[in-house]
Amino acid sequence: MTATVAITLRVNGRLRSIEVAPHRTLLDVLRDDIRLTGAKECCLVGECGACTVIVDGRTVDSCLVLAVEVDGGEVTTAEGLARDGTLTPLQQAFLDEGAVQCGFCIPGQVVSAHALLAENPDPTLEEIQEGLAGNLCRCGCYWQISDAVIAAARNDAR
Ligand code: FES
Ligand code: FES
Repeated sequence: MTATVAITLRVNGRLRSIEVAPHRTLLDVLRDDIRLTGAKECCLVGECGACTVIVDGRTVDSCLVLAVEVDGGEVTTAEGLARDGTLTPLQQAFLDEGAVQCGFCIPGQVVSAHALLAENPDPTLEEIQEGLAGNLCRCGCYWQISDAVIAAARNDAR
């Protein structure tokens, strides 16, 4: 039997104390233990960005981070962006610009875009493309995604 380690995370503002095996990733713990499935399980090697979450203000591929490494940290997932059931203007812009097709990549895209706008509220197209370069979209919605981020930035909205 694998020994477990007690960790505490603040996830989307809520404190979570859990026991985890040391080899388990943050993605596994978010999805399987905390039941937040916005971060998607896809390549598991840091290539696609579908599992993107924010840890202590920085985006990470949660498939590459061990949960124990984040002990004491603050985690924001796609589920933590909306307030009181209302989409953020950035999330709404994704819908308005038709950036959502199958939707699989979208939680990761929105989390990365949210972090980008937090750091750079008025990004150029080039900066958006660079900021979201780690998020792949198999549906090829790249232009619509960029348009959504531009629209949200214009409205000074995150
Ligand atoms: S599932 Fe983590 S980067 Fe692809
Ligand atoms: S909307 Fe389908 S993978 Fe991006």
